[in-house]
Amino acid sequence: MEETCKNVYITTPIYYVNDVAHIGHAYTTIIADMLARYSRLVGYDTFFLTGTDEHGQKIAQSAEARGKTAKEYADEVSGKFRQLWDDFDISYNKFIRTTDEEHKIGVQKAFEKMYEKGDIYKGEYEGYYCVSCETFFTEKQLVDEEFCPDCGKPTNIVKEESFFFKLSKYEDKLLKWYEENEDCILPRAKKNEIVNFVKGGLKDLSISRTSFDWGVKLPDSINEPNHVMYVWLDALMNYITALGYGTTEENMNYWPCKVHLVGKDILRFHSIYWPAFLMSLDLPLPDHIAAHGWWTRDGEKMSKSKGNVVNPKEVADAYGLDAFRYFMLREVPFGQDGDFSQKALIDRINSDLGNDLGNLLNRISGMSGKYFDFKVSSKDVEKFHQKELNEVNEILENVEEYIFKMQLNRYLEDIWKVLTIANKAIGDYEPWAKMKEGKTDEAMALVALITNIVARVALLLDSVMPEKISKIATSLGMEISTDTYNKLIVNKGLLDDTTITKVEQLFPRIEEVLLEQPNVSDTSKTEVEEKSAKKETQTQEEEPDNLITIDKFFETTLKIGTIVEAEEVPKSKKLLKLQVDLGEGRNRQILAGIKEFYSADDLIGTQACVVANLKPAKLMGMLSEGMLMAAKDENGLSLIRPEIPKKSGTKIS
Ligand code: ME8
Ligand code: MG
Repeated sequence: MEETCKNVYITTPIYYVNDVAHIGHAYTTIIADMLARYSRLVGYDTFFLTGTDEHGQKIAQSAEARGKTAKEYADEVSGKFRQLWDDFDISYNKFIRTTDEEHKIGVQKAFEKMYEKGDIYKGEYEGYYCVSCETFFTEKQLVDEEFCPDCGKPTNIVKEESFFFKLSKYEDKLLKWYEENEDCILPRAKKNEIVNFVKGGLKDLSISRTSFDWGVKLPDSINEPNHVMYVWLDALMNYITALGYGTTEENMNYWPCKVHLVGKDILRFHSIYWPAFLMSLDLPLPDHIAAHGWWTRDGEKMSKSKGNVVNPKEVADAYGLDAFRYFMLREVPFGQDGDFSQKALIDRINSDLGNDLGNLLNRISGMSGKYFDFKVSSKDVEKFHQKELNEVNEILENVEEYIFKMQLNRYLEDIWKVLTIANKAIGDYEPWAKMKEGKTDEAMALVALITNIVARVALLLDSVMPEKISKIATSLGMEISTDTYNKLIVNKGLLDDTTITKVEQLFPRIEEVLLEQPNVSDTSKTEVEEKSAKKETQTQEEEPDNLITIDKFFETTLKIGTIVEAEEVPKSKKLLKLQVDLGEGRNRQILAGIKEFYSADDLIGTQACVVANLKPAKLMGMLSEGMLMAAKDENGLSLIRPEIPKKSGTKIS
């Protein structure tokens, strides 16, 4: 980030209150939250705004359909959005509602100012309107002379008196702004589309309506009580009214905005209308308007009518909020579309978070505990590991740049390169061997190198996974703060002597086949390429620090089961549905992910080892009451069976 920029203002779109929040909304909000947390940690005075868009014909109609007043309905849905962001610990500084009194006053002030400037005139609008998109279209723009080119729904003919904003007047000024500010619209490809659109010519914009009244009234000075403002004028103004524009002005020092985060669906409003309004108001323009791509599910647009909406709360409850945040930011390059798949999420958790990051923390506590009574000192790190430190510094020097260029997946990729350096160093230097040779200084230097790397990574991942990172920080005895950030990241310093505390496993492995499925996805449809299974990083020589007592082992009930029935689960690539006799007088239904390796017919009459006291789980809507034990390597999967058949239900010990 440029040194000159002391105040950072970050916004999400304000969400319409006619819909429940889904992963698309969560995605925008999580990106914005990451940026806000990051800039606070770096030390910038940060203001993060989100909220709800509550006026307009669409909301009025939705409320009416439910037999509620528009305000009642808006209160209810706005409250749900806010609750979700609170559940998600979203660090917004203000949650604005367009029904807030200060907002309405601010919008009216803005209207007056634009009017006085001569940018608003009265006329008559004749054309087509899409209520769902709250957008005006000309006949030429329609699909099949009737349908909205954006959402495909039928449009209405509108002919009414209206005030217009002289958008055409700002055509050249906008083009100049785009040209002089390379990154004003991100990503670049999207910017080109906007520039071409504006070059095609801009028409003046209708900014008031008379055929309904759920909106902000025009200012009294205009004396047109039948008009309400066009909902997009009202909505866009939230970005300044939230700072006190037209009322207290108390937070206008945060303007201009650092980043307006939006989905690609509303980029045109933000990169054409909004800067034109700001020019008319003589306010500076934002640094960046950043448009992200679209999340689909199984390749299809999510919608309530299709019933395929992914509920972000359910995903976060099932897999953990931080893992969900990491997944969303890492999985899809900013600006591109992404398909939500449970399998991809699980892969990220097991491999990136469990193997690469979580395991490293275990190894720090394992090694420091075993060799050094949990004490770690950085005094010899430079002496023995300057090479690794240089590699780490080189990578980390560039990561900050990615943030406000919205290359968030690259940011994370580079952080993972640093984790690879740490994981590799353990194998290369074999601290356990150093200990045997009596080279304790070298072993300590290695443990301290790893600790320092994880500490730096923790600082950089705090904005992405705040909850897990605070646990890592506790474990390493460090504080996540601007001071530590300056010391370890900016000045490339090393940790003071510290004592490691053991923490619970941060990202326990998730076995895909055993999942209780939240309303996310049917695994059979969302298969993604199996990523090459990552090698476990625990080496032979290093003694595991996860020994359990025999009592703990016997918490698991293992029994011999006889498979009496087996059939394929339709639509699933993996699952077989088995009826298994465990000598209980009734068979258990077990869903096993072994279809690729066994045919149903071959299994009938055979035996396998069964985990008998597993909590029942639902898979693709069917109950599974146990798990077969199996071993899988690169040659495939094999069930674990008794050498000689045993009575059904025989206990394994
Ligand atoms: O447009 N994938 O509100 P809105 C990714 N009120 N992002 C998605 C998404 C998906 N499938 N679906 C929604 C409005 N989003 C206006 C905004 S701002 C002054 C007024 C996200 O409730 C994405 O950020 O329709 C998109 O821009 C926003 O939700 C639209 O939310
Ligand atoms: Mg929308």
